[in-house]
Amino acid sequence: MSTSDEVHENVKKYYGSRLASSCDLQTSAASCGVSCRPAPGRVAEALSLVHPEVIRRFFGCGLPVPAKVEGCRVLDLGSGSGRDCYAFSKLVGQKGHVTGIDMAEEMIAGSRKYIEYHQQKFGYDETNITFVQGYMEKLCEAGIQNDSMDIVISNCVICLCPDKRAVLQEAFKVLKEGGELYFSDMYASKVVPDHLKQDPVLWGEGMGGSLFWRDLISLAHSVGFSTPRLVSASHIVVHNCELKAKAGDISYASGTYRLFKLPKNPKMSKATVTYKGTVADFPDELEFDSSHSFKKDVAVEVDGEMAAVLQSSRFLPDFKIQILHETEPNSDSAPQYCHLNPFLLADRLGSSVKQCSKTGQ
Ligand SMILES: C[S@@+](CC[C@H](N)C(=O)[O-])C[C@H]1O[C@@H](n2cnc3c(N)ncnc32)[C@H](O)[C@@H]1O
Repeated sequence: MSTSDEVHENVKKYYGSRLASSCDLQTSAASCGVSCRPAPGRVAEALSLVHPEVIRRFFGCGLPVPAKVEGCRVLDLGSGSGRDCYAFSKLVGQKGHVTGIDMAEEMIAGSRKYIEYHQQKFGYDETNITFVQGYMEKLCEAGIQNDSMDIVISNCVICLCPDKRAVLQEAFKVLKEGGELYFSDMYASKVVPDHLKQDPVLWGEGMGGSLFWRDLISLAHSVGFSTPRLVSASHIVVHNCELKAKAGDISYASGTYRLFKLPKNPKMSKATVTYKGTVADFPDELEFDSSHSFKKDVAVEVDGEMAAVLQSSRFLPDFKIQILHETEPNSDSAPQYCHLNPFLLADRLGSSVKQCSKTGQ
């Protein structure tokens, strides 16, 4: 498995024909997606309406569903059976639109089978969902326009891609200014050595291609995104003893991060922000990420980047923002990023590990 084409072919086979359902995976990744984080009301309802066959073939490792998606244009990278696309189809409403892209013909054919079912279930006059066969490293070739999406999501797919920079660059290009990449993926506790990347089963399970979590931060910055904000995390249990032995002292966690496409040269001024309580499902408090939870009518000071995110994104009308002063370049000491470590967050949310383990240990 040395070229990108070989890696893609291996992954197509792995998900297209080898795995019949999420139960066939060798780790707890997919079980976490369903059980770890209680979904807010509308999201739980949308998921409950998705066809059981689509759910059975869910291979994600999280719940990449941000707040306030009604009317949005959403792109799902590596849409698989389409679970997240169909949930979003309900959440964005008739005026929104969802595009799922997947490179595997079987996955696209399988997901398309349920378009009409969901259109009827949601009571839409016409469908608001499109599935496109293509590579997420080449979105333009697949017909996805630049600056056309409000939200790009992905669920346990970037770990399967050999060229993660290309994926992030493409996501950046197709997002509108102020839009966000909100995605769940597998992360490694250290850099995965090259010899493990050659193992087709380790790669297919996401273990060979998982990014060391810290590398996501530099990668995101180099592409032009804001600093990734960690939303949720859970430990991944490797059930297969052989794979566990191969991985040695590397552990894995699932993490959901959100990365914003800010305007060019944004003003990074600290600000006092007050949440108005206006986002649906979150009248009292909006949990923006694991370090920022905004209570209604309570003014809090945020750093320049968070202020820029709120000012340029779809959340602007939901906050009163008072600019304090411009942050001097390099005025802060080197950031530590411990708060972005999914392993630490998974420890903190400890109960989810027990919920997720298929063995129940
Ligand atoms: C682990 S599954 C996840 C599917 C889906 N996101 C879910 O949550 O069920 C990975 C999916 O990503 C697709 N995929 C992997 N690499 C891809 C790439 N480079 N471009 C497009 N699709 C890709 C695979 O075909 C497969 O359907």
